[in-house]
Amino acid sequence: MDAYVVIGNPIAHSKSPEIHAGFARQTGQTLSYARLLAPLDNFPATVRDFIADGGCGANVTVPFKLQAHALADHLSERARLAGAVNTLKFEHGSIFGDNTDGAGLVADIVINAGIALSGRRILLLGAGGAARGALLPLLEQKPAQLVLANRTYAKAQELVLQFARYGDLEAAEFAELQGTFDVIINATSASLAAELPPLPPHVFSSATLAYDMMYGANPTLFMQFAAQHGATVRDGLGMLVEQAAEAFLLWRGMRPHTAEVFTALRTQLRPTAA
Ligand code: ATR
Repeated sequence: MDAYVVIGNPIAHSKSPEIHAGFARQTGQTLSYARLLAPLDNFPATVRDFIADGGCGANVTVPFKLQAHALADHLSERARLAGAVNTLKFEHGSIFGDNTDGAGLVADIVINAGIALSGRRILLLGAGGAARGALLPLLEQKPAQLVLANRTYAKAQELVLQFARYGDLEAAEFAELQGTFDVIINATSASLAAELPPLPPHVFSSATLAYDMMYGANPTLFMQFAAQHGATVRDGLGMLVEQAAEAFLLWRGMRPHTAEVFTALRTQLRPTAA
């Protein structure tokens, strides 16, 4: 049977096996998909052992996405630009690295939320790995304007220089943001620490979609703040499912429907009534 894994450390919490089992059922594909814990100091050997055992592909999660990028023999353009890999495909004795996170984000906003990004004013918050992975797929949507705001301004400036040839992109300080935005995407890790990026409230309007790449049982502080200022909010659960669908497409040559898996995960996440 074709074997896939998700590799991380820790890995017990990963929802990927459940997501890919759902996709396999729905598409009638026969495959196995398991969690694989890699020692923090031995990611490459873990991948190579899995390949030697006949593995076909792997998803890669925290903290190994940069190491997966370094390990790949060749890369998709989006993975090269992201500087990180979340999907590996093992074929003809070589390791192909891709990054499906940004495409997952765009699919969740454009298809699932039904909000076009083309011609819109977009604000992306953060300049770490998550923001970097989103930049090329967002620029490919041809927004009217894409502004990158980061607490450490110099990091936003560096990314703007690096991505300038792929579309119009500008760096901004949080305090200097002007006007409202159609879509505001939180790609900082602030929500993980229950923190709020220092955003001026005037960036939100009732026409704004405020998207947090994080997800959980409850809205993040960013989502609460955005909702208080009139925005429509959405968390990153759909992005999680869509990045998996993109990986499934790379491995199996078909893109599964995502609605059923998404609904099942959302139901599990709901806080149980007291
Ligand atoms: P990831 O891979 O999840 O993107 P990362 O590379 O460590 O993680 O990047 C974290 C990002 O979140 C950075 O852009 C960081 O801003 P700095 O570059 O100024 O450190 C941002 N971040 C983290 N906590 C934040 C907070 N409380 N407010 C605003 N930005 C925050």
